[in-house]
Amino acid sequence: MKIGVVGLGAMGSGIAQLAVEAGFDTVGREVEMARAEKARDQIAHFLTRKVEKGTLEQGARDAAVARLSLTTALADLADCDVVIEAAYEDLEVKHELFQVLESVVRDDTILATNTSALSVTSIASVLERPERAVGMHFFNPAPLMPLVEIVRAERTADDVFEAAFELGVKLGKTPIRCSDTPGFVVNRVLIPLLNDCVRVLDEAGVTPQALDAGMKHGAGWPMGPCELLDLVGADVHVHASEALYEKLREPRMAPPARLVRMLQAGKLGRKTGEGFYRY
Ligand code: 3HC
Repeated sequence: MKIGVVGLGAMGSGIAQLAVEAGFDTVGREVEMARAEKARDQIAHFLTRKVEKGTLEQGARDAAVARLSLTTALADLADCDVVIEAAYEDLEVKHELFQVLESVVRDDTILATNTSALSVTSIASVLERPERAVGMHFFNPAPLMPLVEIVRAERTADDVFEAAFELGVKLGKTPIRCSDTPGFVVNRVLIPLLNDCVRVLDEAGVTPQALDAGMKHGAGWPMGPCELLDLVGADVHVHASEALYEKLREPRMAPPARLVRMLQAGKLGRKTGEGFYRY
C-alpha cells in the first residue's frame, strides 16, 4: 500500500512518520521543497532518538527514512492508495486540494482528511465521488498519541470507512468510529474544557504554572492545559474554537479573550518561542 500525505506541518509530518514506520512507501507533499525537507529532517531526528533509546534498530530506522519521498507536485500522488490531507484548516484550501487530488488519483483511491474542526461532509462536497472521502483525525503529537478518530461523512462508503479504520490499526493507533459532528468526539469535549482552563486563570487569579500543576497533580493530566495549548498553538486552538462556536453557539466554545490577545500578539506557543511559557 502506498500512502500520500498532503501538508507536512506538525500533524502531516507526524502522520508521514507513522506511515514510514509502519512499512508503507509514503509520498509527502508540501508547497515548498524546503518545508518538506525540514519535515523529513524532523522525522529522521525522532527516529534517530528511538535508535539511541534502543526502541528501534538502526537498519529499520534507515529503511523507514528511505520509504519517504518528497514532492511539491500533487500529480506525484497519482499511484497512492490512500491520501491523507493535513493542510491548512481552511475550507477553500481543502476544496481546491481535494478537487485536484481527485483528478490525479485512481478511482479507488481513498481521500482522507485530518481536519479537526471543519465538516468532512463539506470538504468532500466538491468531489465527483464523495463516497471515497473519510476523516482520519490524529492527535498532536501524532507519533505519540494513540488515538485516531475515523469520521464517517454523510456520503462515506462503508468499505472506505472500514478501510480507514484498518489503516489506523496498521499505523499502530487505537481508532474509534464516529460521525461527522462538530469537534467529532475528543475536541467536542477538550476544546470547551481548555477554554474553561484559560478563563479560570483570570477568574481565580492563578498563574499558568499553578493551573498546570493543579490539573497534572489533581486530575492526572499528562501535561497541564497551558503546556498543552502551547503545544497545539493558540492559532490552531482559536480557529477550532471559533469553528465549534459557529456551529454549536455554546458560550464555552468561544475562544477566551486572553487566548485571542495572545494570538494577536503572535504568542502562539512553542512554534513562535512564546505562549504561556517561553521556549
Ligand atoms: N513527534 C515524534 N516524536 C516525538 C515528538 C513528536 N512531535 N515529540 C516527542 N517525540 C519523541 C521524542 O523523541 C521524545 O524523546 P526524547 O525527548 O528523549 O527525544 C519521546 O517522543 C518521548 O517524549 P516525552 O518524553 O516528552 O514523552 P512524555 O512521556 O512526556 O509524553 C506526551 C509526551 C505524549 C505528549 C504527553 O505529554 C501527553 O500525552 N500530552 C497530552 C497531549 C495531548 O493531549 N494531545 C492532544 C492535543 S489536542 C489535538 O491534537 C487535537 C487537534 O485537533 C488540535
